[in-house]
Amino acid sequence: MKKGKVIPLSEPCLCGHEWRNVKECLDTGWVSSVGSYVERFESDVARYTGRKYAVACASGTAALHTALMAAGVGEGDEVIMPSLTFAAPAFAVRYTGAWPVFVDVEPRHWQIDVQKTADFLSRQCKVSRKGVFNRRTKRNIKAIIPVHLLGHPVDMAPLMELAGRLGLVVIEDAAESIGSQYRGRNTGFAADIACFSFNGNKIITCGGGGMLATNDPKIAARSRHLTTQARADAVEYIHDAIGYNYRLTNVQAAIGVAQMEKLDEFVEKKRAIAKRYDEGLRGLEGLVLPQEASWARSTFWLYTVLVNAKKYGMDSRVLMKKLSGAGIQSRPLWRPLHLQKIFKGCTSFQITEAVRLYKEALSLPSSKTLGRAGQSRVIGIIKNNGRI
Ligand SMILES: Cc1ncc(COP(=O)(O)O)c(C=O)c1O
Repeated sequence: MKKGKVIPLSEPCLCGHEWRNVKECLDTGWVSSVGSYVERFESDVARYTGRKYAVACASGTAALHTALMAAGVGEGDEVIMPSLTFAAPAFAVRYTGAWPVFVDVEPRHWQIDVQKTADFLSRQCKVSRKGVFNRRTKRNIKAIIPVHLLGHPVDMAPLMELAGRLGLVVIEDAAESIGSQYRGRNTGFAADIACFSFNGNKIITCGGGGMLATNDPKIAARSRHLTTQARADAVEYIHDAIGYNYRLTNVQAAIGVAQMEKLDEFVEKKRAIAKRYDEGLRGLEGLVLPQEASWARSTFWLYTVLVNAKKYGMDSRVLMKKLSGAGIQSRPLWRPLHLQKIFKGCTSFQITEAVRLYKEALSLPSSKTLGRAGQSRVIGIIKNNGRI
């Protein structure tokens, strides 16, 4: 990467009340996992996503792990998810002793392929009153984790219908999608539980942090219990389960509260960036631009294009290197999980699109702070086949 002014892929924008809120925590001594900002952050996210309850967690991965435990997923169970995703949902499944089952993404919006998921369930599983049984592994499938990839929502209605019919729990991985909308509502409202991440590269951040949201009071209470060391008696230190120190601190929540105030503005900025990329790159031979479904309002968390090596004249990795040489950060999508050694032996079903997208996709600088001049530079270099 060229020294000097770098155009980052996705940097945070701490331009609101973050300093003021953090200072208040430091001045008052409320720096740990109890405090008014934790409560406010929880209620802000619950309100935003239309949920009754939200439980702040130390990270999005911790939220996913907690959600799985609270939903009763455990040793020897299986959980369906797309192969094309950051690995956190698969890791969280393994923490519980359960196993991931990988399915494909659909070619238009690159989200979990609901039709192929249904095909897998009907062709390779036995469905009975006792549940859904994977014939190959002889394990029970308990849940599905749809991941709203890159800020574009999954088509949740058919997925919820499928899961409802088979009695499967659905945990939305909304780590990349807070602020995006599905059929006019903010993502994170549709499934049994939704999980968010506030990692530094996400649309809003609190340094590191996560949240789970649900309408189920039992799941909310169980999650709160598990994330605070499962203390049945806080005075006598009696624990009734294996607990976790997964709580978010008040200092992080203070940043999160300030970021929530900015969320709608950030979404507009991201959408404006996406529009400028669309206008600048449309019609360029060998490049496929991201599509927004008619029922979706994407945040374009990371604006991602597909590079057809033959037509464009170079593949996504070569273009990435050329951009890097010009001080511009870009990155491919995640190596599909079914191809990773650590998940060898896990079930995967008819995965083709995830592999193609992995080869062709390149995410371009998408920070809220990206100015017109910087973005024009990125567009200019891509139009000029990587030449500065
Ligand atoms: C889809 C997805 N799920 C889960 C996570 C995990 O979140 P965290 O980094 O906060 O643990 C991330 C991102 O980091 C993500 O992109």
